[in-house]
Amino acid sequence: MQPDSIRQLEADLLARIAAATTTEELEAARVAAVGRKEGAFTQIAKEMGRLAPEDRRQFGMLLNAARQKVEEALEARKQAFADAVLRARLDAEWIDLTLPAPGPRRGHLHPITQIQRELEDLFISLGFAVLDGPEVETEYHNFDALNIPPDHPARDMQDTFWLEGGNLLRTHTSAVQVRGMEKLGPPLRMIAPGRAFRNESVDASHEHTFYQLEGMMVDRDVSVAHLLYFMKTLLTSIFGREATVRLRPGYFPFVEPGFELDIQCLICGGEGCPVCKQSGWVELLPCGLVNPNVLRMSGIDPEQWNGFAFGLGLTRLVMMRYGIDDIRQLQGGDLRFLEQF
Ligand code: PHE
Repeated sequence: MQPDSIRQLEADLLARIAAATTTEELEAARVAAVGRKEGAFTQIAKEMGRLAPEDRRQFGMLLNAARQKVEEALEARKQAFADAVLRARLDAEWIDLTLPAPGPRRGHLHPITQIQRELEDLFISLGFAVLDGPEVETEYHNFDALNIPPDHPARDMQDTFWLEGGNLLRTHTSAVQVRGMEKLGPPLRMIAPGRAFRNESVDASHEHTFYQLEGMMVDRDVSVAHLLYFMKTLLTSIFGREATVRLRPGYFPFVEPGFELDIQCLICGGEGCPVCKQSGWVELLPCGLVNPNVLRMSGIDPEQWNGFAFGLGLTRLVMMRYGIDDIRQLQGGDLRFLEQF
Protein backbone atom coordinates (compact mmCIF):
# COMPACT_ATOMS: atom_id res chain seq x y z
CA MET A 1 0.00 0.00 0.00
CA GLN A 2 1.55 3.24 -1.19
CA PRO A 3 0.80 6.96 -0.74
CA ASP A 4 0.60 7.03 -4.52
CA SER A 5 -2.21 4.54 -4.60
CA ILE A 6 -4.20 6.75 -2.23
CA ARG A 7 -3.68 9.72 -4.52
CA GLN A 8 -4.76 7.60 -7.44
CA LEU A 9 -7.87 6.44 -5.59
CA GLU A 10 -8.72 10.02 -4.62
CA ALA A 11 -8.32 11.18 -8.22
CA ASP A 12 -10.51 8.32 -9.52
CA LEU A 13 -13.26 9.00 -7.00
CA LEU A 14 -13.24 12.75 -7.64
CA ALA A 15 -13.45 12.11 -11.38
CA ARG A 16 -16.38 9.76 -10.88
CA ILE A 17 -18.19 12.29 -8.69
CA ALA A 18 -17.58 15.06 -11.21
CA ALA A 19 -18.91 12.83 -14.01
CA ALA A 20 -22.17 11.97 -12.18
CA THR A 21 -25.08 13.59 -13.99
CA THR A 22 -27.97 12.10 -12.04
CA THR A 23 -28.69 11.68 -8.34
CA GLU A 24 -28.57 7.90 -8.91
CA GLU A 25 -25.06 8.08 -10.37
CA LEU A 26 -23.95 10.34 -7.54
CA GLU A 27 -25.37 7.96 -4.95
CA ALA A 28 -23.54 5.05 -6.60
CA ALA A 29 -20.31 7.06 -6.45
CA ARG A 30 -20.92 7.82 -2.78
CA VAL A 31 -21.45 4.15 -1.93
CA ALA A 32 -18.35 3.17 -3.88
CA ALA A 33 -16.24 5.76 -2.02
CA VAL A 34 -17.45 5.96 1.56
CA GLY A 35 -20.08 3.22 1.77
CA ARG A 36 -19.88 1.61 5.19
CA LYS A 37 -19.32 -1.93 3.94
CA GLU A 38 -17.94 -1.94 0.40
CA GLY A 39 -16.64 1.63 0.17
CA ALA A 40 -13.02 2.05 -0.94
CA PHE A 41 -12.05 3.94 2.20
CA THR A 42 -13.48 1.27 4.45
CA GLN A 43 -11.53 -1.39 2.56
CA ILE A 44 -8.28 0.51 2.88
CA ALA A 45 -8.81 1.28 6.55
CA LYS A 46 -9.15 -2.46 7.15
CA GLU A 47 -5.79 -3.09 5.52
CA MET A 48 -4.03 -0.47 7.67
CA GLY A 49 -3.59 -2.96 10.45
CA ARG A 50 -1.00 -4.70 8.30
CA LEU A 51 1.28 -1.66 8.10
CA ALA A 52 4.30 -1.11 10.26
CA PRO A 53 3.30 1.04 13.26
CA GLU A 54 5.64 3.89 12.23
CA ASP A 55 3.99 4.10 8.78
CA ARG A 56 0.49 3.93 10.12
CA ARG A 57 0.32 7.51 11.39
CA GLN A 58 1.48 9.12 8.17
CA PHE A 59 -0.67 6.82 6.08
CA GLY A 60 -3.69 7.50 8.26
CA MET A 61 -3.28 11.25 7.82
CA LEU A 62 -3.08 10.89 4.06
CA LEU A 63 -6.13 8.70 4.03
CA ASN A 64 -8.17 11.07 6.16
CA ALA A 65 -7.24 14.04 4.01
CA ALA A 66 -8.28 12.14 0.87
CA ARG A 67 -11.51 11.04 2.43
CA GLN A 68 -12.33 14.54 3.49
CA LYS A 69 -11.75 15.85 0.00
CA VAL A 70 -13.97 13.16 -1.48
CA GLU A 71 -16.71 13.86 1.05
CA GLU A 72 -16.56 17.56 0.30
CA ALA A 73 -16.79 16.84 -3.42
CA LEU A 74 -19.82 14.62 -2.81
CA GLU A 75 -21.52 17.29 -0.76
CA ALA A 76 -20.74 20.01 -3.31
CA ARG A 77 -22.10 17.91 -6.16
CA LYS A 78 -25.24 17.09 -4.21
CA GLN A 79 -25.80 20.78 -3.56
CA ALA A 80 -25.23 21.55 -7.24
CA PHE A 81 -27.93 19.06 -8.18
CA ALA A 82 -30.35 20.58 -5.70
CA ASP A 83 -29.56 24.04 -7.04
CA ALA A 84 -30.20 22.89 -10.60
CA VAL A 85 -33.60 21.47 -9.66
CA LEU A 86 -34.51 24.69 -7.92
CA ARG A 87 -33.33 26.81 -10.83
CA ALA A 88 -35.32 24.74 -13.30
CA ARG A 89 -38.40 25.24 -11.18
CA LEU A 90 -37.83 28.95 -10.93
CA ASP A 91 -37.28 29.15 -14.66
CA ALA A 92 -40.50 27.31 -15.27
CA GLU A 93 -42.40 29.54 -12.88
CA TRP A 94 -40.89 32.75 -14.07
CA ILE A 95 -43.36 35.29 -15.27
CA ASP A 96 -42.90 38.76 -16.59
CA LEU A 97 -44.93 40.90 -14.24
CA THR A 98 -44.63 43.86 -16.58
CA LEU A 99 -46.60 42.11 -19.34
CA PRO A 100 -50.30 43.00 -19.67
CA ALA A 101 -52.45 40.30 -18.03
CA PRO A 102 -54.20 37.84 -20.37
CA GLY A 103 -57.95 38.44 -20.39
CA PRO A 104 -60.15 35.95 -18.54
CA ARG A 105 -61.54 33.18 -20.74
CA ARG A 106 -65.15 34.09 -21.31
CA GLY A 107 -67.99 31.89 -22.34
CA HIS A 108 -71.13 33.07 -24.04
CA LEU A 109 -74.79 32.24 -24.17
CA HIS A 110 -75.87 29.10 -25.94
CA PRO A 111 -77.50 29.89 -29.33
CA ILE A 112 -80.83 28.58 -28.05
CA THR A 113 -80.64 30.92 -25.07
CA GLN A 114 -79.73 33.79 -27.38
CA ILE A 115 -82.81 33.25 -29.55
CA GLN A 116 -84.98 32.71 -26.50
CA ARG A 117 -83.93 36.05 -25.04
CA GLU A 118 -84.44 37.87 -28.33
CA LEU A 119 -87.96 36.49 -28.51
CA GLU A 120 -88.68 37.36 -24.89
CA ASP A 121 -87.68 40.97 -25.61
CA LEU A 122 -89.86 41.05 -28.70
CA PHE A 123 -92.92 39.66 -26.96
CA ILE A 124 -92.48 41.85 -23.91
CA SER A 125 -92.52 44.83 -26.28
CA LEU A 126 -95.82 43.47 -27.67
CA GLY A 127 -97.36 43.34 -24.21
CA PHE A 128 -96.85 39.66 -23.41
CA ALA A 129 -95.88 38.28 -20.00
CA VAL A 130 -93.07 35.72 -19.82
CA LEU A 131 -94.21 32.74 -17.75
CA ASP A 132 -92.36 29.75 -16.41
CA GLY A 133 -93.81 26.36 -15.58
CA PRO A 134 -92.56 23.06 -14.15
CA GLU A 135 -90.80 20.51 -16.35
CA VAL A 136 -92.28 17.75 -14.23
CA GLU A 137 -95.97 18.19 -14.94
CA THR A 138 -99.26 16.70 -13.95
CA GLU A 139 -101.18 14.66 -16.45
CA TYR A 140 -103.96 17.21 -16.07
CA HIS A 141 -101.91 20.22 -17.20
CA ASN A 142 -100.08 18.40 -19.97
CA PHE A 143 -103.07 16.53 -21.40
CA ASP A 144 -106.55 16.67 -19.86
CA ALA A 145 -106.84 20.45 -19.59
CA LEU A 146 -105.70 20.69 -23.21
CA ASN A 147 -108.65 18.66 -24.36
CA ILE A 148 -106.66 15.43 -24.54
CA PRO A 149 -108.51 12.94 -22.30
CA PRO A 150 -106.82 9.62 -21.34
CA ASP A 151 -108.17 7.58 -24.23
CA HIS A 152 -107.56 10.28 -26.83
CA PRO A 153 -105.45 9.11 -29.79
CA ALA A 154 -103.51 12.41 -29.68
CA ARG A 155 -101.67 11.09 -26.65
CA ASP A 156 -99.92 8.66 -28.96
CA MET A 157 -98.57 11.59 -30.99
CA GLN A 158 -96.38 12.50 -28.05
CA ASP A 159 -94.33 9.66 -26.65
CA THR A 160 -94.34 10.48 -23.00
CA PHE A 161 -91.83 9.93 -20.23
CA TRP A 162 -94.13 8.86 -17.42
CA LEU A 163 -92.91 9.24 -13.85
CA GLU A 164 -93.86 7.35 -10.74
CA GLY A 165 -97.03 8.66 -9.15
CA GLY A 166 -98.69 9.57 -12.45
CA ASN A 167 -96.70 12.71 -13.21
CA LEU A 168 -94.70 13.12 -16.41
CA LEU A 169 -92.02 15.16 -18.09
CA ARG A 170 -94.00 17.73 -20.02
CA THR A 171 -94.20 16.82 -23.69
CA HIS A 172 -94.80 20.41 -24.73
CA THR A 173 -94.82 23.88 -23.24
CA SER A 174 -98.58 24.02 -23.87
CA ALA A 175 -98.99 22.89 -20.26
CA VAL A 176 -97.97 26.43 -19.28
CA GLN A 177 -100.93 27.83 -21.27
CA VAL A 178 -103.16 26.11 -18.76
CA ARG A 179 -101.20 27.47 -15.82
CA GLY A 180 -101.29 30.95 -17.37
CA MET A 181 -105.07 30.88 -17.80
CA GLU A 182 -105.55 29.54 -14.29
CA LYS A 183 -103.32 32.12 -12.73
CA LEU A 184 -103.90 35.29 -14.75
CA GLY A 185 -107.32 34.86 -16.35
CA PRO A 186 -108.46 36.91 -19.37
CA PRO A 187 -107.44 39.11 -21.09
CA LEU A 188 -104.14 37.32 -21.36
CA ARG A 189 -100.97 37.65 -23.41
CA MET A 190 -98.23 35.25 -22.42
CA ILE A 191 -95.27 33.33 -23.71
CA ALA A 192 -93.58 30.40 -22.01
CA PRO A 193 -90.16 29.34 -23.26
CA GLY A 194 -88.68 26.12 -21.94
CA ARG A 195 -87.69 22.53 -22.35
CA ALA A 196 -89.98 19.74 -23.43
CA PHE A 197 -89.30 16.01 -23.44
CA ARG A 198 -90.36 13.14 -25.63
CA ASN A 199 -89.49 9.52 -25.43
CA GLU A 200 -88.28 9.12 -28.99
CA SER A 201 -85.16 7.69 -30.50
CA VAL A 202 -82.59 10.34 -31.22
CA ASP A 203 -81.46 11.06 -34.76
CA ALA A 204 -80.36 14.06 -36.83
CA SER A 205 -83.75 15.73 -36.49
CA HIS A 206 -85.15 14.29 -33.23
CA GLU A 207 -84.03 14.87 -29.67
CA HIS A 208 -85.63 13.57 -26.48
CA THR A 209 -85.08 17.04 -25.00
CA PHE A 210 -85.80 20.18 -26.99
CA TYR A 211 -86.88 23.77 -26.54
CA GLN A 212 -90.18 25.33 -27.38
CA LEU A 213 -91.66 28.73 -26.94
CA GLU A 214 -95.34 28.66 -26.25
CA GLY A 215 -97.47 31.69 -26.87
CA MET A 216 -101.07 32.49 -26.03
CA MET A 217 -103.34 35.45 -26.37
CA VAL A 218 -106.87 35.50 -24.98
CA ASP A 219 -109.02 38.54 -25.59
CA ARG A 220 -112.27 39.56 -27.23
CA ASP A 221 -112.78 38.83 -30.95
CA VAL A 222 -109.35 37.35 -31.61
CA SER A 223 -109.09 36.02 -35.18
CA VAL A 224 -106.73 34.14 -37.44
CA ALA A 225 -105.66 37.54 -38.79
CA HIS A 226 -104.28 38.43 -35.33
CA LEU A 227 -102.52 35.12 -35.14
CA LEU A 228 -100.90 35.64 -38.52
CA TYR A 229 -99.86 39.18 -37.68
CA PHE A 230 -98.00 38.05 -34.56
CA MET A 231 -96.43 35.09 -36.30
CA LYS A 232 -95.11 37.19 -39.16
CA THR A 233 -93.81 39.84 -36.78
CA LEU A 234 -92.01 37.13 -34.87
CA LEU A 235 -90.39 35.56 -37.93
CA THR A 236 -89.39 38.88 -39.47
CA SER A 237 -87.73 39.89 -36.23
CA ILE A 238 -85.80 36.64 -35.97
CA PHE A 239 -84.61 36.40 -39.53
CA GLY A 240 -84.18 40.10 -40.13
CA ARG A 241 -86.26 40.01 -43.30
CA GLU A 242 -89.73 39.05 -44.31
CA ALA A 243 -90.03 35.30 -44.33
CA THR A 244 -92.29 33.55 -46.80
CA VAL A 245 -94.82 31.45 -44.94
CA ARG A 246 -97.70 29.16 -45.72
CA LEU A 247 -100.51 27.83 -43.58
CA ARG A 248 -101.66 24.25 -43.74
CA PRO A 249 -104.42 22.75 -41.68
CA GLY A 250 -102.98 20.98 -38.66
CA TYR A 251 -104.61 18.96 -35.93
CA PHE A 252 -104.11 19.61 -32.23
CA PRO A 253 -106.99 18.93 -29.82
CA PHE A 254 -106.45 22.25 -28.03
CA VAL A 255 -106.91 24.48 -31.09
CA GLU A 256 -109.75 24.81 -33.57
CA PRO A 257 -109.02 25.57 -36.33
CA GLY A 258 -105.43 24.37 -36.06
CA PHE A 259 -102.61 25.12 -38.46
CA GLU A 260 -99.09 24.23 -39.33
CA LEU A 261 -97.25 27.35 -40.28
CA ASP A 262 -94.35 26.50 -42.56
CA ILE A 263 -91.55 28.83 -43.48
CA GLN A 264 -89.81 28.73 -46.81
CA CYS A 265 -86.41 27.18 -46.22
CA LEU A 266 -83.87 29.92 -45.67
CA ILE A 267 -80.94 27.63 -46.24
CA CYS A 268 -81.77 26.89 -49.86
CA GLY A 269 -84.39 29.58 -50.56
CA GLY A 270 -86.95 26.91 -51.34
CA GLU A 271 -84.86 24.98 -53.86
CA GLY A 272 -84.64 21.89 -51.65
CA CYS A 273 -81.78 20.88 -49.34
CA PRO A 274 -81.10 18.44 -46.47
CA VAL A 275 -82.41 20.87 -43.84
CA CYS A 276 -85.85 21.06 -45.48
CA LYS A 277 -85.64 17.45 -46.61
CA GLN A 278 -85.74 18.63 -50.25
CA SER A 279 -89.25 20.07 -49.83
CA GLY A 280 -88.32 23.76 -49.77
CA TRP A 281 -90.42 24.28 -46.60
CA VAL A 282 -89.71 23.85 -42.92
CA GLU A 283 -92.42 23.11 -40.39
CA LEU A 284 -91.83 25.64 -37.66
CA LEU A 285 -94.93 26.91 -35.99
CA PRO A 286 -97.96 24.85 -35.10
CA CYS A 287 -100.74 27.21 -34.02
CA GLY A 288 -104.46 27.89 -34.05
CA LEU A 289 -107.41 29.44 -32.30
CA VAL A 290 -107.89 28.15 -28.79
CA ASN A 291 -110.49 25.40 -28.56
CA PRO A 292 -113.48 26.65 -26.47
CA ASN A 293 -113.26 23.49 -24.33
CA VAL A 294 -109.76 24.48 -23.26
CA LEU A 295 -110.89 27.94 -22.21
CA ARG A 296 -113.85 26.50 -20.34
CA MET A 297 -111.75 23.97 -18.43
CA SER A 298 -109.53 26.76 -17.15
CA GLY A 299 -112.50 28.82 -16.04
CA ILE A 300 -112.75 31.21 -19.00
CA ASP A 301 -116.12 31.76 -20.63
CA PRO A 302 -115.77 31.01 -24.37
CA GLU A 303 -118.86 33.10 -25.08
CA GLN A 304 -116.96 36.16 -23.86
CA TRP A 305 -113.40 35.39 -24.81
CA ASN A 306 -111.39 33.63 -27.45
CA GLY A 307 -107.77 33.46 -28.38
CA PHE A 308 -104.89 32.00 -30.33
CA ALA A 309 -101.97 29.84 -29.29
CA PHE A 310 -98.74 28.75 -30.93
CA GLY A 311 -95.87 26.44 -30.08
CA LEU A 312 -92.65 27.59 -31.68
CA GLY A 313 -89.87 25.02 -31.93
CA LEU A 314 -86.92 26.99 -30.59
CA THR A 315 -84.46 24.24 -31.32
CA ARG A 316 -85.60 24.01 -34.90
CA LEU A 317 -85.54 27.76 -35.25
CA VAL A 318 -81.89 27.87 -34.21
CA MET A 319 -81.14 25.16 -36.75
CA MET A 320 -82.86 27.18 -39.47
CA ARG A 321 -81.18 30.39 -38.53
CA TYR A 322 -77.67 28.97 -38.53
CA GLY A 323 -78.06 26.18 -41.07
CA ILE A 324 -77.34 23.41 -38.56
CA ASP A 325 -78.34 20.08 -40.04
CA ASP A 326 -77.94 17.82 -36.99
CA ILE A 327 -80.00 18.55 -33.89
CA ARG A 328 -77.67 16.49 -31.72
CA GLN A 329 -74.93 19.09 -32.04
CA LEU A 330 -76.95 21.62 -30.06
CA GLN A 331 -76.79 19.73 -26.80
CA GLY A 332 -73.71 17.65 -27.51
CA GLY A 333 -71.55 19.95 -25.38
CA ASP A 334 -68.77 20.15 -27.97
CA LEU A 335 -67.06 23.50 -27.47
CA ARG A 336 -65.68 23.53 -31.02
CA PHE A 337 -69.28 23.65 -32.17
CA LEU A 338 -70.58 26.11 -29.58
CA GLU A 339 -67.76 28.59 -29.96
CA GLN A 340 -68.96 29.41 -33.46
CA PHE A 341 -71.94 31.35 -32.13
N1 PHE B 1 -97.99 21.81 -28.25
C1 PHE B 1 -97.92 21.48 -29.64
C2 PHE B 1 -96.76 20.53 -29.86
O1 PHE B 1 -95.80 20.61 -29.17
C3 PHE B 1 -97.71 22.67 -30.50
C4 PHE B 1 -98.85 23.65 -30.48
C5 PHE B 1 -98.87 24.66 -29.56
C6 PHE B 1 -99.87 23.58 -31.39
C7 PHE B 1 -99.91 25.60 -29.55
C8 PHE B 1 -100.88 24.47 -31.42
C9 PHE B 1 -100.91 25.49 -30.49
O2 PHE B 1 -96.79 19.72 -30.73
